[in-house]
Amino acid sequence: VTVAALVPAAGRGERLGPGAPKALRTLGGVPLLVHAVRSLSQARDVDVVVVAAPPDQAGAVRSALASWAVPAEVLVVPGGETRRESVARALASLPDDVDVVLVHDAARPLAPSDLADAVIAAVRAGADAVVPALPVVDTIKQVDDHNLVQATVDRASLRSVQTPQGFRRAVLADAHRLAGGDVTDDAGLVEAAGGRVQVIAGHPEAFKVTRPIDLVFAEAVLARRRATHVG
Ligand code: CTP
Ligand code: MG
Repeated sequence: VTVAALVPAAGRGERLGPGAPKALRTLGGVPLLVHAVRSLSQARDVDVVVVAAPPDQAGAVRSALASWAVPAEVLVVPGGETRRESVARALASLPDDVDVVLVHDAARPLAPSDLADAVIAAVRAGADAVVPALPVVDTIKQVDDHNLVQATVDRASLRSVQTPQGFRRAVLADAHRLAGGDVTDDAGLVEAAGGRVQVIAGHPEAFKVTRPIDLVFAEAVLARRRATHVG
């Protein structure tokens, strides 16, 4: 079985504030996308990585990957206007022999390699689509247009979903071809196409860098790893 990891990295990072595209912002001096690609390429079972770069930054992405010595076969393609389009472009560039596909946000630089391996293992065990997820820790309230609370949602059955998400290649390709609507992850496309999605345990360090405070958290996690010689 040949496994590819697709890394959507073409977003601007508007919620992070002004600066370079998010994937090229640095953590411990190293671009976020290099952390993400490195971790994936260190997973036991990942054979090839495809990065969807900001369309005008493919060169910068290639040279970042080259200068930080990522130990894997990495392809770089131009991303699109939406995350879905970026993933579709990476998917279209895959070699024929790939039959399992991971999709992993460049914006989750600290997701451990073990998480990728656990997702791949669950796909190999027979799942069409696999997502890592954590229980929701906050109390969740539904509000109306005037910010008045309408309901408190029972969080027991809610999960916060992460990446890497894993798929049988044909399942992901069909979902991208068939599903319509506004979805924020690839498993959402599989759901919209009527497929089954399996949840496995996520990892706290697979959090997404979205707002400036997330970079502070990420620097702290990195510092702790360096102090304990892990990762
Ligand atoms: N992404 C992408 N192509 C896009 C938009 C997003 O490849 N057109 C990627 C981002 O680079 C990121 C992942 O999808 O790795 C998750 O998206 P998000 O966290 O929303 O990143 P941004 O879209 O860059 O951030 P923002 O929404 O704050 O602008
Ligand atoms: Mg976005």
